[in-house]
Amino acid sequence: MAQRPVCIVGGGVIGLAIGWELARQGKAVLLLERDRVGRAASWASAGMLAPDAEIQFEEPELYQFSKESLRRWPDYAQALEAASGLSVDLRTEGALMVAPDRDGAEAYRRIYRFAKEQGLKVAWLNGEEALALEPFLAPRLVGAIHAPETYQVDNRRLVEALRIAFEKAGGQIREQTAVVAVEPDARRPAVRTAKGERMEAEVVILAAGAWSGEIEGLGWKPPLRPVKGQVIVLTMEPPFGLRYVVRGPDAYLVPKRDGRLIVGATMEEMGFDTQVTAGGLYRLLEGAWELVPGIYDLPVQEILAGLRPGTRDNRPLLGYGAPGIVLATGHYRHGILLTPITAQEIARLVLTGETSDWLTPFSPERFLPASEALP
Ligand code: GLY
Repeated sequence: MAQRPVCIVGGGVIGLAIGWELARQGKAVLLLERDRVGRAASWASAGMLAPDAEIQFEEPELYQFSKESLRRWPDYAQALEAASGLSVDLRTEGALMVAPDRDGAEAYRRIYRFAKEQGLKVAWLNGEEALALEPFLAPRLVGAIHAPETYQVDNRRLVEALRIAFEKAGGQIREQTAVVAVEPDARRPAVRTAKGERMEAEVVILAAGAWSGEIEGLGWKPPLRPVKGQVIVLTMEPPFGLRYVVRGPDAYLVPKRDGRLIVGATMEEMGFDTQVTAGGLYRLLEGAWELVPGIYDLPVQEILAGLRPGTRDNRPLLGYGAPGIVLATGHYRHGILLTPITAQEIARLVLTGETSDWLTPFSPERFLPASEALP
């Protein structure tokens, strides 16, 4: 590359999507990935696009940001499918938040009332109504919230589609290339790799998920922690065929068109540990079986764990973190959901220098020591 490229550190969905956005708008982009693209948190995710089910109401700015990203998803999926030739399987059936017992029902009724007050499109279903929509639910369930504005995509197809679209647009990927440090500079920022190479860039974008805080040289340490999620992938075999995303107090189940049923996910703060444990699997299976007893006979296809990148306030870090270094990380439980808005708004920041109103609440400056405030 003759031109100094935009250098993206991290090849999860966020890094790939920013790369595709910039490459298709004419930038030279080099993406460096420590392992293989899309094989960390993006691979372990269930691909849910679920602001109404997953974002706390006391986080209004994150909630609005997430709803806006959800609104952008259908067009985004269409553009990505056209560019890559691969379907990402966007599904819009919605989710059922199921209360398996009386205590659960009381808690969900409270959530339902609150969601209604906030103007969300949700409906309360009694057991019979819920079973009419999704016959594989537990027959004795007490009640459920129907959240129609919960979508899902196939996260693994998404990884592949983004990789294809990025490379077709001229983007370059180097796998097995860990970046250990960045060198901030407004005009010529650089990265240093574990193999001792130094590469200068036009801009560096740090999108390394849970690993973003381990990279030296920023001048401050972004407060990122890995939050482990263990996941079980079952194989749906006829006559079993769940249609809806089903969520309960201790597990969720997300059916994929290729027959996979993703059961997730634990929330564990154990550092960079991706061990799958008996206790983790036990809790997930118990939680999922209470909601959908028919999983009992399904074959287990895969067990794995991913690391969500959580910040101190569980909001993403989006914007300049040092001269020439943009952060696009800390997406915590919402990386797939926030992919379109993150890619589009970060690309706009890099291309125009303008921070959109969408990004302002997530500026890394909120964690900078006062003395380090960016100009
Ligand atoms: N968004 C799903 C999870 O964090 O488990």
